[in-house]
Amino acid sequence: MDFKIINSTIGKQRSACLVVGIHEAGKLSASAKHLDKISRSFISKLLKKGDIKGKQGETLLLHTLPNCAADRVLLVGCGKEAALNDQQFRKVISAATSALDKIGVKECVNYLGEIKVSERDLPWKIRQMSETTCDALYRFEAMKSKKNQRPAPALKKMSFHIPGTANRSNCRNAAKTGLAIANGMTITKDLGNLPGNICTPTYLANKAKAIAKGNSKLKVSVLDEKQMTALKMGSFLSVTRGSREPAKLITLNYSGGKKGEPPVVLVGKGVTFDSGGVSIKPSPTMDEMKYDMCGAASVLGVMATINELSLPINLIGVVPACENMPDGSASKPGDVVTSMSGQTIEILNTDAEGRLILCDALTYCERFKPAVVIDIATLTGSCVMALGSHATGILGNDDELVSDLLAAGNSSNDRGWQLPLWEEYDEQLKSNFADMANIGGREGGTITAACFLSRFTRAYNWAHLDIAGTAWHSGAKKGGTGRPVPLLTQYILDRCES
Ligand code: BES
Ligand code: MN
Ligand code: ZN
Repeated sequence: MDFKIINSTIGKQRSACLVVGIHEAGKLSASAKHLDKISRSFISKLLKKGDIKGKQGETLLLHTLPNCAADRVLLVGCGKEAALNDQQFRKVISAATSALDKIGVKECVNYLGEIKVSERDLPWKIRQMSETTCDALYRFEAMKSKKNQRPAPALKKMSFHIPGTANRSNCRNAAKTGLAIANGMTITKDLGNLPGNICTPTYLANKAKAIAKGNSKLKVSVLDEKQMTALKMGSFLSVTRGSREPAKLITLNYSGGKKGEPPVVLVGKGVTFDSGGVSIKPSPTMDEMKYDMCGAASVLGVMATINELSLPINLIGVVPACENMPDGSASKPGDVVTSMSGQTIEILNTDAEGRLILCDALTYCERFKPAVVIDIATLTGSCVMALGSHATGILGNDDELVSDLLAAGNSSNDRGWQLPLWEEYDEQLKSNFADMANIGGREGGTITAACFLSRFTRAYNWAHLDIAGTAWHSGAKKGGTGRPVPLLTQYILDRCES
């Protein structure tokens, strides 16, 4: 997608389609007002007739508006004239994009930057529009035979109108950032949507190499099971025992910052299919456990975004990747394993496998002498119960890091919500036979899972993002969301600025 920033005179602007906002109760945005005037009240007459009411997300396509140089005008309902909130703005942009996609125009000029959004400036809106436009145009057709594939979206170029020229370079940067985030999200969504028989640990390793290819700042290394055995990753390896797909530990190293500057480390859960193992999951919706590598996919997405933006930071991505399957050599409930840290773990439930692979990856991170470590994982069904599908669960051992992540989520419209990481919860992990159990009972499942991880992150500042509810949509809209690429990118952008 090609995004441009222009200062246009709406009546004279040539384009396949102009995109302008209108509000309820016959209120017009500045550009709509201008068009209304030159067309002798064409738009206000339509409003009076009730052809469009201005409700949020409503659209109406006009052909050959009198005295307008453009081929078409797409009116987009923005609701009441009062400022929108972030989510409402995104809804409006998505609706406009779907309409443009249906019309099939190749190019358009977008005036929706005029719409007021509470406490947000024009560059923020431009970035959101770039991101949301790409998101709404996304489709995953790779697994359909040629004849059943929808054609790729026709829309290739969108020009954002801004008033005057003062803000131009900020707006250009915003569009560029939005596009880079959208490109990262596409990688994340594609990997999530690919089925488990294709997106294996080896596939993830190859994808990491492909992202790094030709980039001097980005290096990838992949450890195999033999090398992990040498590192004594007994916990990680216990999960992959029941699978025929070889496990991989993938590390991406982006060096954009000063030499020797402590890196930010992202660790993504990469279970390419989670059957539950011997503690097997029920069949309905088990297919969705192909998404159990979305943490890993978000790490690859963010690495690509940061690389595209060439940000001045040292960033490392670590992806423990394997399958969780039941076979004759799979882990059994009651088995005790020794993690890389030396701590022993009683596996009371083989379906609590994410923490078992993450704990060794987190111990592995100590060698990077990190500034902070953030892990991203589709870790617990409890998180979906607690927060639903709107907020990512955030927990950590460092208040500043957690509040920075919450702030990044708010400003990038990819929000998280903090849950407590108190000692009282940690006690639920007691085991009669090992240093700890891998589950903490029914209560507070997201928290006890994070407590488990916190036992492996004492050496550094750490936060955990539970994306079980936010990484993909279930039901009719089933598909990866690309979250939390915006949140993580924003966190890194903020770090680069401070
Ligand atoms: N990958 C799942 C978590 C999950 C479940 C994410 C449903 C999204 C939707 C994880 O490996 C898992 O199975 N967790 C168990 C933990 C339990 C056994 C303590 C869970 O949440 O049920
Ligand atoms: Mn599981
Ligand atoms: Zn899992």
